[in-house]
Amino acid sequence: MIVFVDELDGEEKINVYQAYDFIFGSATAAYQIEGGWSDDGKGESHWDRWTHCTPSLIANGDNADVACDSYHNYKEDVALLANMGAQFYRFSISWPRILPDGLVHKINEPGVQYYRNLISELKHNNILPFATLYHWDLPQKLSELGGWTNPWILSWFTDYARLCFQLFGDDVKHWMTINEPKQVCSFSYGIGLLAPGVCSPGVGEYLAVHNVIRAHAEVYHVYNKEFRCKQGGMLGIVVDSPWYEPEDPGNPDDVAAVDSKLLFGIGIYLHPLVFGDYPDVVKEKVKRRSEVQGFQRSRLPEFNDDEKLKLKKCFDFIGLNYYTSGIAKGDRSNPEGKGCFVDCEAIEYQAHCWESCALFWLKVVPKGIRHVLKWLTDHFERPLIYITENGYADNGGLEDYARINYIKRHLSQVKDAIDLDNCNVKGYAYWSLLDNFEWREGFRPRMGLISVDYRSPCRRRTPKKSAEYYKNVISARAVID
Ligand code: NOJ
Repeated sequence: MIVFVDELDGEEKINVYQAYDFIFGSATAAYQIEGGWSDDGKGESHWDRWTHCTPSLIANGDNADVACDSYHNYKEDVALLANMGAQFYRFSISWPRILPDGLVHKINEPGVQYYRNLISELKHNNILPFATLYHWDLPQKLSELGGWTNPWILSWFTDYARLCFQLFGDDVKHWMTINEPKQVCSFSYGIGLLAPGVCSPGVGEYLAVHNVIRAHAEVYHVYNKEFRCKQGGMLGIVVDSPWYEPEDPGNPDDVAAVDSKLLFGIGIYLHPLVFGDYPDVVKEKVKRRSEVQGFQRSRLPEFNDDEKLKLKKCFDFIGLNYYTSGIAKGDRSNPEGKGCFVDCEAIEYQAHCWESCALFWLKVVPKGIRHVLKWLTDHFERPLIYITENGYADNGGLEDYARINYIKRHLSQVKDAIDLDNCNVKGYAYWSLLDNFEWREGFRPRMGLISVDYRSPCRRRTPKKSAEYYKNVISARAVID
């Protein structure tokens, strides 16, 4: 067992998580587990449309029409969490389940009731609900109007968020607005690999970036003005990032490439939400490249003065999703290229020797989580951070020792980040509670602590060895060998 030493009395066996009030939990997202895609008045999301209309883009032609059927099995999910001793559950609210066409003029009562039931079940089991408002399942009707590239989304999203605070805010004290803005903007509207598949790198992509940031800020202010006093909760945003090693630590271009990758990947969202504007490096690079490319002005929109004021200090915590790392190398060879992946003037790749798993992009590099935590701590005034996702993919089976190893090694790094780097990390959620629909990869990669049998009509759930291990970690509040 790795022994934690309590800073207060130096006595071995008291662990750091207790001393720092650290909570353990697990995470899921609505589209990936709920199923019931058109049940009881739920509206269509752009992921429903994408999987139904372009199944060839999803491994095996899978869709999440039924998925883990958590819409009908939520009580069992909560019982499984309770059995592990989880202290919090991060789930997402499906926007089209409660607002079928995305707008507040038509509320779908059965959808609302579903989340009421889920939240009250969690409450009865002493599990804190952490609710994400947007985990990628945009109402199809809004997607057809341009989705996150349309500035009207500021009011669509704010109205939806306000409704959620009204409906669930007496019980939910941890809110997250947008899950992984990088994926939302760069993958959905930049390179088009996620629904709705828009390919507009560096143009539509930056419109989405701009709207995501402003929509988050609007929601933060609504929460502050209308709900914080009465409800007393907190609101954050969830970012994802690999860590990057410079290809050649002796080459200043490669060293700068690390920061550039991080600034274009997460700084582009968080810097405005702390300091009121995009990072200088991002503004300068996009402006220079836009000019060379013949644009009249930078492809990156600008915030006006009112917005700059409004954006400053706009979250209570950061959710961090960490899975893997990359190697960064300075690269100015593509002056015509556009978008976050090119404008940063750095390329990334992964080392062949890094341990791999059942997802091609997920190489196991535990020390990266500590580096990202430190980078966030150094750049954004030591924010409060929850690890909102960290997980491992295999091809199935209950004897998942590699997953146990993954959790163990990452938790140890988190502990070091707290103890040695002064990071303010207060919780860890393993991704995922259940095997589920892994977006373009379909159901093949298994990431759950609980195995789901997709062939059984009730989607039978069976805890894996990792669930047992995690239960022991939670009860010992220590990383166990
Ligand atoms: C992050 C996303 O939030 C989640 O939906 C996804 O399943 C995991 N990464 C694994 O890829």
